Amino acid sequence: MDPYLLGLRLGGRRVVVVGGGGVASRRVPVLLDAGAEVLLVSPKVAASLEDLAAVGRIRWEARGYRPGDCAGAWLVCACTDDPQVNAAVATAAEAQRTWCVRADDAGASDAWTPASGRAGDVRVGVLSVDPKHGDPRHSAAIRDAVVAGLRSGQLSARHGRGHRGGVAIIGGGPGDPGLITVRGRQLLAEADVVLTDRLAPRSLLDELRDDVEIIDAGKIPYGRAMAQEHINAALISHAQAGRFVARLKGGDPFVFGRGAEEVLACLRAGVPVTVVPGVTSAVAVPASAWVPVTHRGVAQEFHVVSVHVPPGDERSTVNWALLGGSSGTLVLLMAVERIGAVADELLRYGRSPDTPVSVIADGTLPTQRTINSTLEDVESLVAEEGIRPPAIVVVGDVVSVAVEITELMRDVTA
Ligand SMILES: C[S@@+](CC[C@H](N)C(=O)[O-])C[C@H]1O[C@@H](n2cnc3c(N)ncnc32)[C@H](O)[C@@H]1O
Repeated sequence: MDPYLLGLRLGGRRVVVVGGGGVASRRVPVLLDAGAEVLLVSPKVAASLEDLAAVGRIRWEARGYRPGDCAGAWLVCACTDDPQVNAAVATAAEAQRTWCVRADDAGASDAWTPASGRAGDVRVGVLSVDPKHGDPRHSAAIRDAVVAGLRSGQLSARHGRGHRGGVAIIGGGPGDPGLITVRGRQLLAEADVVLTDRLAPRSLLDELRDDVEIIDAGKIPYGRAMAQEHINAALISHAQAGRFVARLKGGDPFVFGRGAEEVLACLRAGVPVTVVPGVTSAVAVPASAWVPVTHRGVAQEFHVVSVHVPPGDERSTVNWALLGGSSGTLVLLMAVERIGAVADELLRYGRSPDTPVSVIADGTLPTQRTINSTLEDVESLVAEEGIRPPAIVVVGDVVSVAVEITELMRDVTA
């Protein structure tokens, strides 16, 4: 007979888990996410379960199973590697009319755990109707396909009662479409309208349904400030017309991304807004060129600086004297066109002329390019190599770590 699929609301209810190995390590966090009060019975447990017990998230009885352990449980999971113990646990649960999942023998088990996953506000569960002979990887593969489809928007979850409204300001990451967050991708898939920036991961837009309106904010005319006003106005008017608007931005919306300006504009207009943090290019682009922005014994701090106005410009608020005198890593955004002025300023305030510098253009994209230089020579090398924005400039000894990693990498992959 087909199993009956059910969603259990376990908040504050006891679930007894017998056994503390790999299966229990996978099940317990999901039970905790469902709010269950977990009692774990096992003489030994995996480190992750021990950690949960240490911080009081589960109760751990460090001993073997004893009759009576299932008392008061709403659900029992028999996860030991001893079939006799699992059978005894299942029999005890059955006697008190509590559902028991046996991890070792699906055919002997009265309840089965589906392969499950979550995409937005949908939880998906897949059960093979013949788990005795079926392959559990088959259910997991179907689950993965459904969840991936919902996340990418290829399977639409946006219809029905709970249609979302308002605006989501989404950090799209540094450019590689694989570096957006799961939440960002889910909300993008649900959008009716998408306003996108030049540096957002635009290849994701191809995956959206044909009826999604895509507005290229990079093409909105007028100067920088005016364009921002028009973007804010577009976010507000679409949301007020009942559409769910995704504002897809490069990197993280709150790192030189004007994300907070958009949040404020929406809220002042009474439009609900949410923010999805993104992987900022300030850290991800160096990493994509093997530059760690911190490294033990080399750099204990890193400073992220926008050079959209050069040193000495009256609009600049950067303390270049402090940065020149520090030995921390400097991560410079929007610096390519002003790299000469920056290098001069850092040298003036005490950085050594042979300080290593890396310039990484089109980071995480197939066109990524890296040049390594020194503070003294970087301006001429950038000009010679024709490096164009977008690029990140990293100044500091951590660049030498990247050089070492790259050399070792060459040997390993050779
Ligand atoms: C206006 S800022 C936006 C930063 C973004 N909010 C973030 O968190 O990454 C744009 C600058 O970010 C840097 N940038 C963004 N994406 C990049 C990429 N893929 N490769 C290199 N630099 C990038 C460049 O310095 C570019 O001029």
